[in-house]
Amino acid sequence: MKHFITSADTDSVPQLVQKALDVKRNPRRYDQLGRYKTLGLLFFNPSLRTRLSTQKAAQNLGMSVMVMNFDKDGWQLETEEGIVMNGGNAEHVKEAAAVIGQYCDIVGLRTFARLQDAQADYEEKVIHQFRQYAGVPVVSLESEIRHPLQSLTDLLTIEYHRAKAKLSGRPKVVLSWAPHIKALPQAVANSFLEWTALMDYEVMLTHPTGAELSPEFTQGVTIEYDQKKALKGADFVYIKNWSSFSNYGQVIQAPDWKITQEKMALTNRAKLMHCLPVRRNLVIDDAVLDSAQSIVIEQAGNRETAAQTVLIELLKYLQ
Ligand code: CP
Repeated sequence: MKHFITSADTDSVPQLVQKALDVKRNPRRYDQLGRYKTLGLLFFNPSLRTRLSTQKAAQNLGMSVMVMNFDKDGWQLETEEGIVMNGGNAEHVKEAAAVIGQYCDIVGLRTFARLQDAQADYEEKVIHQFRQYAGVPVVSLESEIRHPLQSLTDLLTIEYHRAKAKLSGRPKVVLSWAPHIKALPQAVANSFLEWTALMDYEVMLTHPTGAELSPEFTQGVTIEYDQKKALKGADFVYIKNWSSFSNYGQVIQAPDWKITQEKMALTNRAKLMHCLPVRRNLVIDDAVLDSAQSIVIEQAGNRETAAQTVLIELLKYLQ
């Protein structure tokens, strides 16, 4: 694997998930693989899980890690090609990426959607420019429209529990929109659909009218507008809010879509998943998050394993 930006960067998603399960069982197997190698983590946006889990994963492999809050500590980046740089942006991404590639063997980048211009966000411009100019493998720590480390984590978590519960047949996996007060990106939901489509799952997407995702990610996905109907018989329920794609970046008002115990009772004693952070009693009730059905903390723990798996693959490519 040369980079980790979309599911297309891996030869086989199911095989990568199996590798992640193996890393979960044997976390120390490659503890020298990253010796004398440096990982640079560049954050244009806040993070708890991605930042700490990826740093820990790199340390588990013997790597050195440098973390930079690029939005606060870096020069303002120019991303337009051929422009006269007489505005506020002091450094072009061509130099910035190439210079960082001089110091780092692998670079991770977080660049959230700005939710003002769908076309601009859906180009994922900055991460692709880093891929072009850094000269080293690039890992998405969540781009404008994808969060692949989260998706690998989610599949690892589902597969672990599927085996533990000895579920036979295709598990029913429901991705449900839930309310929020702020405009959130579509990245986690997009990626979840992109990655689950490559697994042998019965995937169902449920959301209110107006919360349709980009057709790029929903092609072939079953969409059910009745949340309670969708939840019936589910083995895994993945909760996430996202802002409107069609009315780009607008908050969707549908408070009845909050996840309650009553709704979880419709499922096949489903495991409840969420990428976190989650706003309690706005998105999911306390009674659900604090119940045995919730695996959100274990899911967050698996972020370390997923990041370690990806770094192992990239380090093997560098050898
Ligand atoms: N799920 C996730 O990416 O968490 P952070 O935003 O805290 O990194």
